[in-house]
Amino acid sequence: MKQYYDTRAPEYDDWYLGIGRFANRERPGWHDAVTALERAVRALAPARTLDVACGTGFLTRHLRGDVTGLDQSRRMIEIASERVPAATFFRADAIPLPFGDGTFDRVFTGHFYGHLEGSDRESFLAEARRVAPELIVVDSAVRPDHEREEMQERILNDGSAFEVYKRYFDGDELARELGGGTVLHASDWFVMVAARARAR
Ligand SMILES: C[S@@+](CC[C@H](N)C(=O)[O-])C[C@H]1O[C@@H](n2cnc3c(N)ncnc32)[C@H](O)[C@@H]1O
Repeated sequence: MKQYYDTRAPEYDDWYLGIGRFANRERPGWHDAVTALERAVRALAPARTLDVACGTGFLTRHLRGDVTGLDQSRRMIEIASERVPAATFFRADAIPLPFGDGTFDRVFTGHFYGHLEGSDRESFLAEARRVAPELIVVDSAVRPDHEREEMQERILNDGSAFEVYKRYFDGDELARELGGGTVLHASDWFVMVAARARAR
């Protein structure tokens, strides 16, 4: 997944924008759903926020407060830094997070949790809870044309092919999986759930 996303960085936003390889995808309501998701992210109260796996900063730019972005991909971080100059960016692995306990008010993560398998999922949640009392997860909503969990073949513009693990979520189920939480946003394409860290 790491090499895939570094290679994909310059074309990543094509997915959100519906251009390039995504121009002819049948995605009813997609553009309105992206706009609604952006609005929901913008509506979050300002906070010291760590955006884990921030990618190109497409969602990071809507976070308010003191914002830090982290991603393992050099090319993603380059794009995000240019796009969101007011935020601070780190190229680092999310597991473990390179920050002390309680450094942030909130960990925000978009389209990352659903790529994590097995023990990585648990390790990420433990790390998120260690550095902040609140976790907000944005991810893809359950779709009729996808299994809830599947391996996908992803082809990039240069023809390279990658196998990626991906999950699709129901908001209430994700909230339960995170140990209890609130569904802040749900559409045909996206869910956004907030969870408080459990007492340790
Ligand atoms: C699907 S993109 C999500 C980008 C952005 N958050 C969004 O919602 O559009 C997944 C991101 O996770 C990053 N990533 C994958 N594994 C990582 C890891 N172990 N540590 C940090 N970042 C990672 C990739 O480089 C990529 O930018």
